[in-house]
Formats: sequence, structure tokens, C-alpha cells
Amino acid sequence: MCGIVGYIGHRESSPFLLEGLRRLEYRGYDSAGIAVLGQNGLKICKTAGRIQGLVDKLIDTPLAGTVGIGHTRWATHGQATEVNAHPHHDGGSRIAVVHNGVIENYQSIKTTLEGKGRRFYSATDSEVLAQLIGYELESVEPSADDPYRHLVTAVKAALDQVRGTYGLAVVFRDYPDVLIAARLGSPLVVGIGTGENFLASDASPLVGHTDRIVYLADHQIAVVTADRLDVSHREAGQVHWNAEAMPINAADSGLSGFDHYMLQEIYEQPTSLENAMRGRLSEEHATAVFGGLNLTPRQMRGVNRLVLTACGTSWHAALVGEYLIEELAGIPVEVEYASELRYRNPPLDPETLLFAITQSGETADTLAALREMKRKGHHTLAICNVVGSSIAQEADGGIYLHAGPEVGVASTKAYTSQCVVLAMLALYFGRLRHMSFDAGLRIIESLQALPAQLEKTLEVNDRVKKVAERYAHCNNFLYMGRQFNFPTALEGALKLKEISYIHAEGYPAAEMKHGPIALVDEHTPSVFIMPHGKVYDKVMANLEEVKARGGPVIVVACEGDTDAARLADEVIYTPHVEEFLQPIISVAPLQLLAYHIAVLRGCDVDKPRNLAKSVTVE
Ligand code: AGP
Ligand code: GLU
Repeated sequence: MCGIVGYIGHRESSPFLLEGLRRLEYRGYDSAGIAVLGQNGLKICKTAGRIQGLVDKLIDTPLAGTVGIGHTRWATHGQATEVNAHPHHDGGSRIAVVHNGVIENYQSIKTTLEGKGRRFYSATDSEVLAQLIGYELESVEPSADDPYRHLVTAVKAALDQVRGTYGLAVVFRDYPDVLIAARLGSPLVVGIGTGENFLASDASPLVGHTDRIVYLADHQIAVVTADRLDVSHREAGQVHWNAEAMPINAADSGLSGFDHYMLQEIYEQPTSLENAMRGRLSEEHATAVFGGLNLTPRQMRGVNRLVLTACGTSWHAALVGEYLIEELAGIPVEVEYASELRYRNPPLDPETLLFAITQSGETADTLAALREMKRKGHHTLAICNVVGSSIAQEADGGIYLHAGPEVGVASTKAYTSQCVVLAMLALYFGRLRHMSFDAGLRIIESLQALPAQLEKTLEVNDRVKKVAERYAHCNNFLYMGRQFNFPTALEGALKLKEISYIHAEGYPAAEMKHGPIALVDEHTPSVFIMPHGKVYDKVMANLEEVKARGGPVIVVACEGDTDAARLADEVIYTPHVEEFLQPIISVAPLQLLAYHIAVLRGCDVDKPRNLAKSVTVE
């Protein structure tokens, strides 16, 4: 993960670097640093902890210069200490490097270079890049007709030796008018300015600085000066680049009256659902309409199996999608962890269609799974929030969520938008097959009612806060649901563990008897998601089993469910909705429960420990 920025131009570089790092802090926040090239040579300032710590440090020792690079880290190799923070140098402070990714063979390179007398300073994998480039630079001669060719040669020679992934930026003490960047597997964009150019892991740091973005592709190396950008492919040579317009909503517009982004984003869900559905429901044809699938209805009709792949919360949305699509469209669906799918070889026929589901569009495993399926000749589609992200660009087509920037590390609005897009897909596939016009229209009506129902659901906030106050001290939680709400149980548990650090497990309620029920005691609350539907009585029986063993029970049930109220210790009511759409509603109280418990426990809700918003390493 981690975020990278770079600047070269006529202004002081540090303000852009620091502001850019702030905007990329969602990508990692365990340490940060910048390297600036100025009158006094190449200077590096870094610190363990958040960007604010770096800002404070730079007040005492400012770094002046119009060329610089910066990094906010999510450690993969080596602890989150100051010495392991990026930028790293080559030992002689002639070059500095920031790196996003993992160098898998760093240990052997390190051993070789140490054997040649080079001294290493950090425990990171990234330092080998700085040391290797520095080492290669010693043996290349500057060329008379191109002042930067030998720098590119040295960078290429270093990259040829590493195995792994990188988005990297390099500054050279002796060449103060150039930055070199390279990408393989980790995203990198160049912002084209006037008399200045920018580098960043995504477009957000460039908002307000330029509208012209160049997305670097894998294996490309960029030579960036204040007024020029040259891009080449490591093997194929010179690349003609095109600048694209800044994506709308590339930057978040801040907190508006909420204490945390997570809470704000929970409350944005009625609007984000509307945005996901806008223009995509056709009453005339009683179906959903998608502009970017890049397959004809006839080709879609030929699809005989779907594979939905994703990680984390997006994987939970995929599970909701499986229930929805199999129920409404009758097409077999497989849900695969992207981290597994990328190394598996499941037998799939050519008519299998892949959907990669991702908020960020940068998740390394999801991207790799998509590439693997593409390589095997499958049509690949993305359900993605971030416009212009790697997965959005590499898929053969897709559906944007239009949820707006999601800043809180815990995904909320992207999840419900993913679920609603999958519900629309189920309608679309159903209508291509057996679903009647009337049935399609009824589903459209139910979908259109969702934003108001979610708005109503959020009125439970005060009630949920009270429940949170009663149980915030507990160290274990169980979440149980069945059928459409089994993924809701998984998602409720994930939300709680990631932001409050409480151990929580989600289960299909009946599975509990096969092991987890042993965990039930008076200190372990069980959260049952049990709106009305065909398995209501079954879940009620599971609830009784927990009560019989003295476990406290919190229930999310439909308004007016007095039976649930009688048995449970706490009830949180949600409006009645069609069974297949319940996950989109019933998750909201669980998001709120996790939020309030995390706040009560004094946790950093938007930037929980050990996590990052965008997981760009394997
Ligand atoms: C969600 O709350 C998590 N932070 C995490 O599981 C996330 O959903 C996962 O990393 C996938 O991210 P993506 O949707 O951006 O691909
Ligand atoms: N592997 C590098 C490190 O641990 C970079 C990690 C990242 O991309 O977040 O420092």
C-alpha cells in the first residue's frame, strides 16, 4: 500500500508533498518522509507515525527546494520506525527513493551488495532499490546527447534484478532537474502542469494543481522534468502518452458536521444508493441498463456462470451477489477470494464471466485475479468505485458505483452500493432469461424504495448508541444470520473487529451448533440479523439456543417484531423490505454499532491500527 508523491517545478516542493501525503494517508499511515533537492543538496526528513508528526518536525527543520518526493508508509518489511520510513538513500545520499510494493528477492540482493561493501541502514525491502540504483549508476557513463539516459539505464538495470511489485520515484543529487518514476503492479500517475509536473499514487493529490493526468502502465519508466514527460516501456522503448482529464470527485470534500468520515459515509448511503441506481433502471423494459459492459445482450444471454472475486468487505458484497443472482436470475455463481483465485486453476468454461468487485480498484490480489482470468480468455468486468483506477482500466468493461470518495478505512457506503449494483445485475440477468416483465417491474419498485428505507433505518442511531454503551466492554462478539443475511453477519463482524479491535465472528446461524456455540457465555453477545422471511423461524430457534446457554442477544429485526423483542436482550428495528434486499438495510445498524463501540473504546475510527484503505501489496 503506501502513498507516493513527487514534485518538480518552480515552486517550493514541500507544501505540495505534505498536502499530497495527507490526501494519500488512507493508503498507509505508520510512518512518513520526504526528500527534497535544493541549494543544500539532497535532504531527507522522516518520522514514525502520522503525517502530522512529519509536518511538526519540518517546522523546526524546513527543507527548501523545488524538487522532491514523499511517502506515507504501510510497512510490509521492517517495523514502522523512523529508520525504516521512506525515502531511502543509496548510502552516499546521492539518490533517494520512495517505493510502494514488495521486493520479494530483497534478501539475496542485499546479501550480494553487502558482499560488495555496501552498508544497509534499514530493515526494509525497499532500501535495496535505492542501493541497487546507486550501485548501477556507478558503472554507467553519461551520454553526450541525452542528459538523463544513463539515469534511466541505471534504474532499468536495477529493476531488471528485482522480483516483486513497485511504484517508485527517484531523485538524484547530481541531477536536480529530473525525477524518474517506474511502475510494476503498484499505481502511479503523473500530473502535467505548466512549468511543473507532479507524481502521485492516485489523482487525489493533484486536485487543484492540474486537470491533466497520465496513468503510467506496468513496465513503464517516466522521466519527469519541470516541463517535459518522457515515458518508455522497459523493453519496447518510447511510449506515446495521452493525458486524461481529472476524474470527478477525485478528492474528498472534507467532513461536514460529522466527527468521523465513517459516520458521515454511513449517513451518505441513501444518496450513494440513489447515485448507483441513477439512469440504470428502465421501467419501459422492466430491467436494469448498464452502459459499460461491452457485451451485447446476446453475448450476455450466453453467459452460463459468473465468478465474483474480491477481498474483505467487497467479498461480502460478492456473497450477497451470489444469493441475489442465483435466486433472481438462476445463473450459477462462484464467489472467490481474489487472493486464492489468482493462484488457483478452477475448471471454467469459456462462457464464464468474471466480475471483480472493489471499492478502490487498486487491491493487488483483485487486480491479479482479474489479470489471470483475462489471460485465460474470460471476459472480465469490474464493479468499482474509483474512476480511472487500475482495475477499472484493465477490465474489459464495468459498472462504476458513483459512491463518491470513501475515506474511512472501514468500507460502508461502497458496500451497500456494491450490493445494489449486484441486485440490478441480478434483475438484468433475470430479465435476459426467464423473469417476467411484471416481476422485473416489482423489483424496480423495491429498488427505488431503498434510499428512503435506508434513511429511515438510520433513525436507529440513538438506540444503537445505547446498545453500544451496554456492550462496549465485551471482548468477543458473535454475529449470526442466514441466507441473504449470512453475508451481513460476516460484514457486521468485520466492521467491529477492524475499528474496535474486538474479536468478532460471523456465522450462518445454524452453523453455530457445529462449534462456535462453545464460545457462548454471559460476556459474549450474539448479534442476530433476523428480519422477516422464509428462514425467520429457523433463526429464532438458533436464537433460543443461545439464550438457553446464557448468552446476551442483540437482534436486528423488522419493525413490530414483538417475538424477537420478548426473547432478546436488545432489539434494533429496521423497516420491512423484500427479503432479497434486506442485506442493504440490515447492515446499517451493524455499521453504527461498530462505530459507536469503537468511539467508546477510544479507537481511531477512520484510521484503525495496522490497516490501510487501499491494499496494493499482496
Ligand atoms: C473494509 O472495511 C476493509 N477495510 C477491507 O476489507 C476492504 O473491503 C478490502 O481491502 C477490499 O478493498 P477494495 O474494495 O478497495 O478492493
Ligand atoms: N515494502 C515497503 C516497506 O515495507 C513498501 C510498503 C508499501 O508499499 O506500503 O517499506
